[in-house]
Amino acid sequence: MMKPAVHKTVADLRLAAAGWRKAGERVALVPTMGALHAGHISLVRLARQLARRVVVSIFVNPTQFAPNEDFSKYPRVFERDLELLASAGADAVFHPEPAEMYPAGFCTGVSLAGPAAVGLEDKFRPTHFQGVATIVAKLLLQALPDVAIFGQKDYQQLAVIRRMAADLDIPVEIVGAPTLREADGLAMSSRNAYLDARQRKFAGNLHQAMQWAAERIADGEPIDVAVRESAASISASGFLIDYLEARDAATLAPVEPTRRHGLRLLAAARMGTTRLIDNIDIPTKG
Ligand code: PAF
Repeated sequence: MMKPAVHKTVADLRLAAAGWRKAGERVALVPTMGALHAGHISLVRLARQLARRVVVSIFVNPTQFAPNEDFSKYPRVFERDLELLASAGADAVFHPEPAEMYPAGFCTGVSLAGPAAVGLEDKFRPTHFQGVATIVAKLLLQALPDVAIFGQKDYQQLAVIRRMAADLDIPVEIVGAPTLREADGLAMSSRNAYLDARQRKFAGNLHQAMQWAAERIADGEPIDVAVRESAASISASGFLIDYLEARDAATLAPVEPTRRHGLRLLAAARMGTTRLIDNIDIPTKG
């Protein structure tokens, strides 16, 4: 089990990636903020199927956190992450310091609309996607991968990144990977570590209530009725809901309550001080 090479600078990362490209090897990038769990490892495994070389970036990006969010307490467990990445078969880890990514005088950002302005995460975290899109654009231009893998768990983020890469002609294929779940349905997330034992016991209800609503909608129940009843059940489990909405799966635009195809159900809810997000497909029946 070889430990991946660790690159701390853009110059070193570029050198490694250029060598692989010169040898005709496809390169995949898996951007992360570390605190890796089985969900991240599944992204790395998918990356290995899609490319000969896999780079995982680990960078807790300050610009995507608002001042009241969990930037300083976000878990940082680099040595543990490295062990996991060694067993998952990553070739390299890009682990820059903040000053490498945001040197003095840094003042440029990606400006967004479309899926970044639909009243979901953007409503509750108004500066978040600009920070995400800017750092992802930088990572893509630094590593110049053939393919980059992102979890579908951050569904709006995935839509924003797809649009950004297409609009800016960044020559990369963006791949969305399925969400990994705990036995009770809770979507795997680094932030699940914040839940205490009691909160964890109820956290799976978010996904279960979403599944229930998705099935009702697929069976013909008006969207607003199914969503209202599902929201009541989520709240009864101790969550404060930021949003629970069925949206157009491609654009994330709002939909009519009678719509039956191309739907995604998306939610964000807070359990104590922990904010969880999730999303699932609403199947089209008949
Ligand atoms: O999904 C994440 O972990 C982050 O938003 C990302 C894509 C690594 C950018 O910092």
